[in-house]
Amino acid sequence: MSEKNSGQRDSFSTNFGAIAAIAGSAIGLGNIWRFPYVTGENGGGAFLFIYLIFIVSIGVPVMISEFIIGRSTQRNPYGAFRLLAPGKPWFLIGLMGVLAAFFILSFYTTVAGWTLEYFYQSVTGNLGGKGHDELTAMFSSFLDHPFRPYLWFLIFMGLTALIIISGVKNGIERYTKLLMPLLFILLLLLVIRSLTLKGAGEGLKFLFRPDFSKITPKVILEALGQGFFSLSIGMGTLITYGSYIRKKDNLTRIASYVVFSDTLVAVIAGVAIFPAVFALGGSAASGEGLMFVVLPEVLHKLPFGNIFSLLFFILLAVAAITSTISVLEVIVAFLVEEKNMPRKKATVIATVSVSILGLLTVASLGSLKDFTILGKNIFGILEYLTANIMLPLGGLFIVIFTGWFLSRAILKSEMTNNGEIKTRYLPVYLVLVRYLAPVAIACVFLYSLGILKFW
Ligand code: TRP
Repeated sequence: MSEKNSGQRDSFSTNFGAIAAIAGSAIGLGNIWRFPYVTGENGGGAFLFIYLIFIVSIGVPVMISEFIIGRSTQRNPYGAFRLLAPGKPWFLIGLMGVLAAFFILSFYTTVAGWTLEYFYQSVTGNLGGKGHDELTAMFSSFLDHPFRPYLWFLIFMGLTALIIISGVKNGIERYTKLLMPLLFILLLLLVIRSLTLKGAGEGLKFLFRPDFSKITPKVILEALGQGFFSLSIGMGTLITYGSYIRKKDNLTRIASYVVFSDTLVAVIAGVAIFPAVFALGGSAASGEGLMFVVLPEVLHKLPFGNIFSLLFFILLAVAAITSTISVLEVIVAFLVEEKNMPRKKATVIATVSVSILGLLTVASLGSLKDFTILGKNIFGILEYLTANIMLPLGGLFIVIFTGWFLSRAILKSEMTNNGEIKTRYLPVYLVLVRYLAPVAIACVFLYSLGILKFW
């Protein structure tokens, strides 16, 4: 997907390659780190229930819409809207996406850096034999460390940039094909270990038995935000990736594979983490450190714990990098296609500017942690702003655009590959993008602002 220059635009070479790259973007820290921690803070089962409803009714139509916009125009998000709606302000969605990409990379790469630290700690054997309190203390002293979290951030950012510059699409495809199934198997092992701990049942109840009295406007907004974040939708990542999908691939099918696998991985991560939280004496609502204080203990309760632990954290880093490249690619494709920059220069400029905000984000959990706005540090602000506001807002405009402004002919030809394939989903898709999804997103916004009340 990467090497895009003169003449022929690059594309994924196979249908499987497209699914692997898009699932690679979707599946990442959002599933294994963020889903459990946000679920934990928002009451468990009821959150999961709403999350699943949003994934199907909003996530799928937004994803297909992004593919359609990208593939029909063969452009980055900004260029795509300029081409489809010349002289209209829709291109602002593309610009908001570029801004969101900066923000997301800043905090996401921060967390990706933590996975490298935990990989390193596994290699040196420092994670073994520690209980809940020690792991909690270890996590917070790491965040406070004067240079380690910064160093890991920069290393991760640099690796992401290298992949984007060299466009090692084949390399990435080859490795992820092998490594992601491995991560999945490791997660299943963790699930088994976690479920066989004494007291694990409470965790399952927490995740799967919805307590609807816990639903608040905040819970609903967080579920929507997590859905967008996890599926990589709402900021044009999948417009960009959609533009690399071959004309003969089936968009609806790609979207359903990606959504299914993304959701499966999130739920499995939840089943690995919550039983352990309850059995080992932590709190489900312990915030962004949840995974890092719970999983090392479970990993070390497996035979050869250290090996599983280092494998787990390095594979998680790989899952994270297939996501960070998809975010950086949005900025780079914009600079290359709209500002006529060579790919390398675009990557360097994007990486350096993201790193400035990123280092501040890392600091906001350490030396700058007393600096807060509305009770949130920079890390929290960027996360909240992107996941809960910018992405759903982007998604709202995207479905309004495809549902009400884009020509039916384009929708139809993209959904059916110019009549090559039959699809029964076109009418369903139309109802979703014209009515259900935009109304639902708008209601969530109004509801969380306190303007709309249901019960
Ligand atoms: N979805 C990824 C994850 O769950 C993160 C991600 C990649 C993303 N690209 C994105 C999130 C675009 C929002 C928008 O880890």
